[in-house]
Amino acid sequence: MDDSLRQKARKARAEVCAGVLRGAALMELLSSLPFHERDDWADELLGVEGPPPDVPPPRGSVPYLPCGVAEVLSMTRDIPVRADDVVVDLGSGLGRVVILAHLLTGARAHGVEIQEPLVHTARAHCNTLGLPLVSFEHANAAEIELDGSIFFLYAPFNGEMLIAALRNLEAVARRRAIVLATVGLEFRDVPWLRPRKTSSVSLALYDSRVSGVPHRD
Ligand SMILES: C[S@@+](CC[C@H](N)C(=O)[O-])C[C@H]1O[C@@H](n2cnc3c(N)ncnc32)[C@H](O)[C@@H]1O
Repeated sequence: MDDSLRQKARKARAEVCAGVLRGAALMELLSSLPFHERDDWADELLGVEGPPPDVPPPRGSVPYLPCGVAEVLSMTRDIPVRADDVVVDLGSGLGRVVILAHLLTGARAHGVEIQEPLVHTARAHCNTLGLPLVSFEHANAAEIELDGSIFFLYAPFNGEMLIAALRNLEAVARRRAIVLATVGLEFRDVPWLRPRKTSSVSLALYDSRVSGVPHRD
């Protein structure tokens, strides 16, 4: 990244910390950056450095790799994410998706991550930025009771773990309408999920459809 972009990121970081750069203004700023610089720029903004080494993941878990800022922007615009949503990233890594989703929309946002060092680092980023509506939990997302209105999954796991997590998501959908936003993961044959169109080839969106549960407005 060249110096002028780095300076721009540092200025934006100061404004985020001061609570003045949020929502549409941040969306516009991120969208205005050269496409190939957005991810590094966002890391500079959030104070994210290289991740600690992956701890050996359990069978079925995918190691840490952050999804692109482009998919986060598409998710927030296409759903669209509202301030009264609760966004949950299953396999939240260093927290890029969770923190950006909150800053862009005002929604409460929560990350669930199986690798404890990543959880500690994500919490540290979040504390430095001063974001009380963002939280991180060290847990296996396939083994906990979930709650939220929007669930993001960047191919965090497969096999039995994915089946168990889908069961937990269906349990949420029996209480309230939810949206699943996925990258690198498709749910074609899940009877309680309906795919919808997105503006991005790499992002898939699904609405829950459970009889007796009102649809999302
Ligand atoms: C491909 S990375 C995505 C990271 C993050 N969502 C992002 O886009 O920046 C997948 C993440 O899922 C985590 N993970 C894998 N299995 C998990 C599980 N069962 N429960 C919670 N996290 C898990 C990995 O440790 C890794 O950080």
